[in-house]
Amino acid sequence: MRWWQRLTRRQFLTSGGLSLASVALPATLGTPRAGAAPPAQAPAPAPAMPPPPQPGIVTPVPNAVVLAGLTVLVSTRERLAHLLQELDREIHLLAAGEAGAAALPLLPRRRATNSGELGYQPTPEAALEVTLGFGASLFGGPDIGPDRFGLAAVRPRGLTPMPSFPGDDLDPAQTDSDLFLQLGASHPMVALHGLRHLLRRLGWGLALKYAFTGFTFFPGSGTPAPRGLLGYHDGTNNLPATDPAAMAEHVWIQPADEEPAWCLGGTYLVVRRIRELLERWDRESAERQDFHMGRRKFDGTSLLAPDAPPTAPFDYAADPDGRVVPLTAHVRRANPRRPGDEASRFLRRSFAYFVGDAGGTLDAGLLFMAFQRNIERQFAATKRRLEAPDDPALGSGPQTLSEYLVPNGGGYYFVPPAPASPDEFLGEGLLRAAG
Ligand code: HEM
Repeated sequence: MRWWQRLTRRQFLTSGGLSLASVALPATLGTPRAGAAPPAQAPAPAPAMPPPPQPGIVTPVPNAVVLAGLTVLVSTRERLAHLLQELDREIHLLAAGEAGAAALPLLPRRRATNSGELGYQPTPEAALEVTLGFGASLFGGPDIGPDRFGLAAVRPRGLTPMPSFPGDDLDPAQTDSDLFLQLGASHPMVALHGLRHLLRRLGWGLALKYAFTGFTFFPGSGTPAPRGLLGYHDGTNNLPATDPAAMAEHVWIQPADEEPAWCLGGTYLVVRRIRELLERWDRESAERQDFHMGRRKFDGTSLLAPDAPPTAPFDYAADPDGRVVPLTAHVRRANPRRPGDEASRFLRRSFAYFVGDAGGTLDAGLLFMAFQRNIERQFAATKRRLEAPDDPALGSGPQTLSEYLVPNGGGYYFVPPAPASPDEFLGEGLLRAAG
């Protein structure tokens, strides 16, 4: 039995010098979950029902987001367990809009416990939606790195470092990390506060590797989906996040995936920071832009079916040579809509970013995120089709949209399910599975 497994809930709640007894949590969040002693047995069998997903996957897209890659500084499994317990507790507080935590009776030194920029009273506007992911380096293994925590044997089978695809200009300092956090909020300051709070409270165990800030597409830009910075409705043929059957088919890990049992109900996440060369794009004619994308900028309809609603089903059978929709158009390569292509679909949840200039040009683009059951079959297969199709029927060379895109960071992650019960902490299933 591990020391962290022996901690009682009460011991754990006070172990960090913080009593949660007086924190008013929303009813939906229930009792603070942290550190109740799990039974001291061998790894748990697969649950009959997979645990629920973490927030930030199928929940509505928030206004502002910070995506952060973090390095784990501790070096033993026990310290990692302690770190995840504490992280779970802080995430719980942030989800409850903990801006007023500094006013807790047991936290008299306010400067040390709250940076203050959101004020000192809990407020729903300060609530954060936090999603945690694990990177391949947390596990280690052949071609990955050292197995620092003895987790290599329970690594999700498809979790590797993110490879470089044709056209990528990946900055290693902004690519892959031990842990990943998506912090969603109603305002950019709240999202930043969440990251700052976690770094301050858990700086003994975590260090920032990279952080990307993003915002939702302008909601007033029209239907059926808001428009991204290139001016096109983005999300028109995304998977419906509100459809549990579609999510089970394409997103949540199932027993058939033959992943370690702790992965059931979780999902793989691909993050790509894609700079868009907006000045170059803005010099193009509307017609050329439509050929690059394969849909009409004006209303989001397919070039092949401009009189049908943008969401109406269609395929490219009537245009095998790409006379109407070029074979190199983004949407045609991304989803050629042939029998079998359905298997590579995934859930997109992307944000725009703009961080100022990069040497006299705009540094703006897309924080692309894709959730799926199998990276190789879904994201990677799609990405290969976009950049270098191995099927001659899809044309040769990369999609022409790539002339305007520079992917420069991100990573491959595994997003574990939410804790199965209020007594568990986020990530506990992984540690139990490791024994
Ligand atoms: C900055 C980069 C990108 C931009 C601006 C962009 C934009 C768009 C737009 C405007 C659409 C059409 C509307 C829709 O169905 O959502 C679309 C569709 C799609 N994109 Fe992208 N995208 C980008 C990167 C990617 C990447 C990296 C992938 C995957 C490797 C991808 C996969 C898809 C897929 C699967 C579709 C749906 C196609 C369909 O089912 O018809 N996109 N994208």
